[in-house]
Amino acid sequence: MDERVIAEFGKEKTTPAFVFDTDVLRDNVSKLKNTFEHTAKLCYAMKANPFIIKEIEDLVPYFEVCSPGEHKICKRAGIDVSKIVISGVNKEYSDIEEAICDGITIFTIESIAHFELLQKLTRKHNKIIKVLIRITSGNQFGVDEEVLYNFSDRLKTDSHMILAGIQLYSGTQKKKTEDVVAELEYLDGIYKTLRDEHGVKINKIEYGPGLFVPYFVNDKDISDKMIPAIKGSVANMEFDGELVFEMGRYIAAECGSYVTSIADIKKNRQNNYCIVDGGINHLNYYGQTMAMKQMFYTQYKNGQAIDNTDIDEKYTVCGSLCTVADVILRNMPLTEPKIGDIIVFDKTGAYSVTEGIYMFLSRNMPAIYFYSKKRGLELVRDEFETNRLNYLKEN
Ligand SMILES: Cc1ncc(COP(=O)(O)O)c(C=O)c1O
Repeated sequence: MDERVIAEFGKEKTTPAFVFDTDVLRDNVSKLKNTFEHTAKLCYAMKANPFIIKEIEDLVPYFEVCSPGEHKICKRAGIDVSKIVISGVNKEYSDIEEAICDGITIFTIESIAHFELLQKLTRKHNKIIKVLIRITSGNQFGVDEEVLYNFSDRLKTDSHMILAGIQLYSGTQKKKTEDVVAELEYLDGIYKTLRDEHGVKINKIEYGPGLFVPYFVNDKDISDKMIPAIKGSVANMEFDGELVFEMGRYIAAECGSYVTSIADIKKNRQNNYCIVDGGINHLNYYGQTMAMKQMFYTQYKNGQAIDNTDIDEKYTVCGSLCTVADVILRNMPLTEPKIGDIIVFDKTGAYSVTEGIYMFLSRNMPAIYFYSKKRGLELVRDEFETNRLNYLKEN
């Protein structure tokens, strides 16, 4: 992050805060789009970071929208309804009715109840929709293959639902190329069974490859192996329709910086501690795998980045929560840390902003800024007092 941007946090802007660099974001999405140009289209799984949807709307053809709340966000952002895929478990009557009446035409089916609900509501409103049947990967999501084939047979005569294709997402941070290749082969197998045994030719496969983001210093970037393997596998598929890669982390992680300030410093039983004004309530890389894994960070003093490569002095950096679990990193090299120094954690554009345990301890939610070279820092959400939600009565 540019030192001049960080310098603003030392002055009038408060921490903790997230800064999403929209130049980095757009650059990443454009590169990804080019990488998969002849392989697949992109669908942004907005659960990773809903703030950025409008910034990339022109670059991605689809958004995976997994809850009524996410749908409302899309409406407020003015996302083109033709880009929205309504996905996720627990689709409720009024939410689906709203989506259908808003003109959304792509829905996933994850259960018999979904099938019947969509059938009922499309008839009631006389709307035609396209459905993607989600195949399970052995958990609560999607349906078994037999159910999928049963749905596809029933859809042949449905007047309002067209079977567009199938969907699969089995998990994130995939390290093994063979797992992704196997899933693509599996999807191709389903395509062939539908075609050869059920007389149905689907023209869409929506697949979440769960691409790996190297968050920690010792993580290896495996994209160089993974991406060619994916492309090779896709080239071997008999499926010749529209392949869509549904991705969150890989699109959003890189653009985010979490900006915190050192609030206190102490030595307890020979151990150095730094308390920052953020914490594990806001910071979330992948699950709660922090403390022992060194993330990418920079210390700033008076707006200037410090090189900590050869620094022996190490600190346990903790957040502001009243729990011993609030350890961001043990043994973090810091140069003469002082109250007010800023520590910026990189690659925090995905999930941190949505998956943090924000309500715990009633601390404020961080402010959120966009940054771009052209527009500078722009506040997109002010810090928010969660204490107001944890006790509603006002004096
Ligand atoms: C259905 C679905 N698709 C896509 C994603 C995005 O996954 P990732 O962030 O690993 O790309 C998720 C994440 O939970 C998901 O549930």
